[in-house]
Amino acid sequence: MIEKLINKVIQGDCLELFENIPDNSVDVTFADPPFNLKKKYNSYEDTLEFKDYLKWCEVWIKEMVRVTKPTGSIFLHNIPKWLTYYATYLNKFAQFKHWIAWDTPTSPMGKSLQPSHYGILFYTKEKKQTKIYEIRHPHKRDRKKGHLLKDYGGKKDGLHPFGPLVSDVWTDIHRIKHNRFRDNHPCQLPIHLLERIILMTTDKDDIILDPFLGTGTSAIAAKRLGRNYIGFELDENYVEISRNKLSQTKSNSKIDNIWVSIYKNEVVTIRDKDWNMLQHYYIIPEPRRKIDLINIKLKNKNLLPSEEKITLNNEEVAKGTNNNYNAKKKHETLCNTCNILNEK
Ligand SMILES: C[S@@+](CC[C@H](N)C(=O)[O-])C[C@H]1O[C@@H](n2cnc3c(N)ncnc32)[C@H](O)[C@@H]1O
Repeated sequence: MIEKLINKVIQGDCLELFENIPDNSVDVTFADPPFNLKKKYNSYEDTLEFKDYLKWCEVWIKEMVRVTKPTGSIFLHNIPKWLTYYATYLNKFAQFKHWIAWDTPTSPMGKSLQPSHYGILFYTKEKKQTKIYEIRHPHKRDRKKGHLLKDYGGKKDGLHPFGPLVSDVWTDIHRIKHNRFRDNHPCQLPIHLLERIILMTTDKDDIILDPFLGTGTSAIAAKRLGRNYIGFELDENYVEISRNKLSQTKSNSKIDNIWVSIYKNEVVTIRDKDWNMLQHYYIIPEPRRKIDLINIKLKNKNLLPSEEKITLNNEEVAKGTNNNYNAKKKHETLCNTCNILNEK
């Protein structure tokens, strides 16, 4: 049964669609549900009563755990308030791994403790045997002068040429703001956020299931990285946008045969275990401590597939396939609802 659903975006209510997915059949489940913040989706009304929202969440969370393989992982993206309830529920039948804080700074609102991060709960189905890979991101550098922002003192000779292991606070991935790169959807996630999760917990050909696909972010990330996807989405328009984007997405986010996450022509996430092979494609300053001042560089920029070759940018998709381009542009100018955190 599941074969028929692989690499498909299916329109419908995820609670019904989950019934078609066998137990223990997908490698990763990722959910970015509506946050119950009265957001303006195309068709979904984001206004449930507190108790009803939580009750609804418990049903699909249980389904996510059911369909995830014993080696698999479960990710839930939401604001901290809802994640506290999710965690309490999940602790009963899945294994807590991490609470990832995705730092998403917002403009000052004149109040203290302004929400400025989303949480991503990372659970595994079982205590042991989970597939998890160490991942690295590039060193953070001063934008103008290029030196490392972190002071490694006398430890500079031990610096990893690519960059440190990723911690549970992610500050290097920005939300998609109002610009020509976003779809007509109030809370589209950046593709490289999902690519980081996918590189960390799956291998080529593994299956990622997303019950709230929106305009396709997780499926696109999966396809770019040579993985399979299953996406559920209630809204017809979002389904159409996802399918259009996916039809123009290639599985080639890699250097030679090594899968990496690329954003704006830079490699932004790698697996630690791949560095042994990847390092041969880079010019690495010697002695090692020079990395403090000089960044590593690809020997040949053409090693990276260009962004357009991976995924057509959203503006082109909107122009070519949405027939809604002007409406989208107008929305971008007028809409002040997209700043999810500020809206709270
Ligand atoms: C927060 S958005 C997901 C955005 C997505 N991560 C992206 O990057 O485009 C939540 C989505 O869930 C969809 N949705 C709401 N209720 C649903 C249901 N019962 N089954 C499937 N999708 C649903 C909404 O239409 C909305 O697109």
